[in-house]
Amino acid sequence: MKTTRGRKRRSPAEVLASRLDRRSAHLGVIGLGYVGLPLAVEMAEAGFKVTGIDIDERKVKQLQRGVSYIQDVPTASVKRLVRDGLLNATTDFSVLRKVDTVNICVPTPLSKQRDPDVSFIVSASEQVAKYLHSGQLIVLESTTYPGTTEELILPLLRKTGMEVGKDFFLAFSPERVDPGNPQFNTRNIPKVVGGVTPACTEVAVQLYRQRLEKVVPVSSTQVAEMVKLLENTFRSVNIGLVNELALMCTRMGIDVWEVIESAATKPFGFMPFYPGPGLGGHCIPIDPFYLSWKARASGFEARFIELAGHVNGHMPEHVVTLVAEALNRRGKSVRGSRVLVLGVSYKADIDDTRESPSLDIMEKLREAGAKIDYSDPFVPVLDFFGKKMKGVRLTPAALRRFDCVVISTAHKAFPYAMVLRSAKAIVDTRNALKGKKSPKVVRL
Ligand SMILES: NC(=O)c1ccc[n+]([C@@H]2O[C@H](COP(=O)([O-])OP(=O)(O)OC[C@H]3O[C@@H](n4cnc5c(N)ncnc54)[C@H](O)[C@@H]3O)[C@@H](O)[C@H]2O)c1
Repeated sequence: MKTTRGRKRRSPAEVLASRLDRRSAHLGVIGLGYVGLPLAVEMAEAGFKVTGIDIDERKVKQLQRGVSYIQDVPTASVKRLVRDGLLNATTDFSVLRKVDTVNICVPTPLSKQRDPDVSFIVSASEQVAKYLHSGQLIVLESTTYPGTTEELILPLLRKTGMEVGKDFFLAFSPERVDPGNPQFNTRNIPKVVGGVTPACTEVAVQLYRQRLEKVVPVSSTQVAEMVKLLENTFRSVNIGLVNELALMCTRMGIDVWEVIESAATKPFGFMPFYPGPGLGGHCIPIDPFYLSWKARASGFEARFIELAGHVNGHMPEHVVTLVAEALNRRGKSVRGSRVLVLGVSYKADIDDTRESPSLDIMEKLREAGAKIDYSDPFVPVLDFFGKKMKGVRLTPAALRRFDCVVISTAHKAFPYAMVLRSAKAIVDTRNALKGKKSPKVVRL
């Protein structure tokens, strides 16, 4: 197409690419949680003006004041970026009218029936459709079943009458962030990107290349969606395998931790996974069920996923059995005993308690008649089934008040030597007391 001066008119893709290269594009991120906020901050650090949109007014207000609520995102960076006008936040979706790109980073939980709950994706996409304009790029980052981008989002955007790959661009790019990981972050974790059309992939790659160290284009949105589910299913199945091995080793009187450590000396073909009290977080316990749900809809039974889910889901109950064993050694029953759970976040050294197996263990012990307390340096107050609980400060006297201590999340900051000295009985689900032989320790 030619302009009146005879020059070739640039396509919307070329216009966007050039705005990205010149850092003059205005970027939007929907959903400012563990995934969205680090991404928004990275892109603002690259020099883009970034507007985050969230329905949570509290988060938006905090960001407007330059305060971070995500452990891996320093408040100093947020403050500086907000002050420099590069980062801002709002609950008002009409800002989408002005932004050139939109990354959707909203939650994807399971429903009560353990089916995918894509309502957050749908409601965010409806807002995007309302303000969609020529040259805009939309990227879904929420983990979801293969087909979501093209079966759920694309029809909503097409209703505007605009053409994908020409007037607007749509892609999927799985987020792989690992909260609390000191080595890998949003910037240096390779980013897989798959667009609805080659032009969509190209523009989305162009966006991420501005800041991220490595971008990996793939042939379709479905491949990109499946990549994330393979990664998380791989973890779930392998954790299920070692959890089963741990139960087996207990029966056989073999130390499963020593077995894994020794197997890990093999320099190829083996990767260590460790048993534990159960799966937690917003990814591993949930994502594989997005895949098995979709497989079922295609008439396929995902047996590994279901089996791993079954084994991993049983682990909290197994920990309760170990507590009963530890108490039994001292002639006590679970009912009426005081039990202290160490660590309520779902993994070490972070503050995220979503789907944490510790909560499940606490609930099961409470149901069995135990009096429960917890201690966690990352979670001073815990919302436990609608009741606020305050964490116990660990001292020798405090530890002596409990009949049993359960090490559920092995935070580095716990004083393990003091726990070993002062606790009357210990259930160690993480091998935190590695090498310490004591009759009062029951190990997973
Ligand atoms: N947390 C992780 O470690 C991680 C890692 C990789 C992928 N993921 C995936 O990324 C997605 C987001 O996860 P998260 O951990 O960042 O979740 P989160 O709960 O921390 O953040 C999601 C944010 O979206 C907001 N939100 C919900 N509905 C909205 C809407 N309609 N419009 C605007 N904002 C809305 C929420 O208020 C919240 O602030 C999920 O699909 C998750 O599976 C998470």
